[in-house]
Parts: sequence; C-alpha cells; structure tokens
Amino acid sequence: MTEEEIISSAWWVAHAFLDSGNHDIGHIKRVFRNATLIWEKEGGNLFAIKLSAILHDIGRPIENLTGWDHAEVSANITKRLLKSWNVSSNIIDIVYDAIYSHRFSKGRIPQTLEGKILSDADKLDALGAIGIARVFKHAPNRPIEEDINHFYEKIIKLPNLMYTETGYNLAIERVGVVEYFLEHIEKELDSEDR
Ligand SMILES: [Fe+2]
Ligand SMILES: [Fe+2]
Repeated sequence: MTEEEIISSAWWVAHAFLDSGNHDIGHIKRVFRNATLIWEKEGGNLFAIKLSAILHDIGRPIENLTGWDHAEVSANITKRLLKSWNVSSNIIDIVYDAIYSHRFSKGRIPQTLEGKILSDADKLDALGAIGIARVFKHAPNRPIEEDINHFYEKIIKLPNLMYTETGYNLAIERVGVVEYFLEHIEKELDSEDR
C-alpha cells in the first residue's frame, strides 16, 4: 500500500471505531489539523504524525466498556494494524510511542518529536472556543459552577504542559479565549445571586 492508501485506511478505522461524545471523529479531525499545523513549524515525520493523530483515540470506546487505559489499547491496536499494512518498523515504533504517551494523566512522557506534537495537538483541542464547548458537552447535567472549577483545575494550566514552542504559542492564544470567557461568565453568575 502507498502512504496515501495507508492514511485513508486509517481514517476508515477511526470512523469505524469512534462513537459520539467528546472524542468523536470531529475531535480526531481537529487534532489532525492541529498536528499538521505544529509540524509545519517544528518538523518531524509527517506520515508518523498523521497516523498518530488519526488513530490516537481508537481505544476510547473499549475504555468505556472495560476501563482499560485507552492510550495503551489504541497504541496496541495501531501497532497490529500498521504491521498488517506493512508499515516500516521505525514508523511503527514512533507511532506506538506517540499514542502510548499521549495521555498526560498517566504521567508518560513522549520520547519523540512526533509524540510531543501529538500530545500538544490533542491538548489544543481542550483550549479555545472548542475547549469551552467540550467542557460543557462532557457532563451536561453538572452544575455550571463545577464546570468553571474544571477550567481552573485543568484547562487553564494546559499551556504549561506543551512540549513544542509552536504548541505553546497556540495554547497561549487559545487560553486567552478561555480566560475572557471565565471573566464574563463569573460576572454573569454573580449577578444571578442578587
Ligand atoms: Fe486520548
Ligand atoms: Fe484525543
């Protein structure tokens, strides 16, 4: 298979695996776009970056059913898929490590530039206007005040977790949108009490 055919097969797999919710195909498309944007400035192997972005969350539905860590599940499924598509072992190693270490909460640190780009691209989707939309989509029945707490506990700290300079600059731009939103929603929530 050509690289192009492998990429389009990866998209089919992503469409087949992913369901609705915060890690749907829309998330994958945005992470793919963010990763390509970062690659333009930072470099790295674009084929490996594309595969990592498309397949990084395919284990999500399995985590929802079994509780198994989706980063590990996605990395393992991807490794087998790429082997069956005769992708070279050095690309498989890069993609495996990138996907395995994309989840910050597991404390894993990406070992390659491609892994750092995936991690940054994924976190960028939790920032900016889309990041705000995803927080409220996550738990629709949660009181707004708890969503606001989540912004302070997690979202506004994300720029500090960026690995690449380009990712950091994009994160700073997008965290500004979140801060503007917080400033306004807090004023509006305050006025509700009066
Ligand atoms: Fe993930
Ligand atoms: Fe993701």
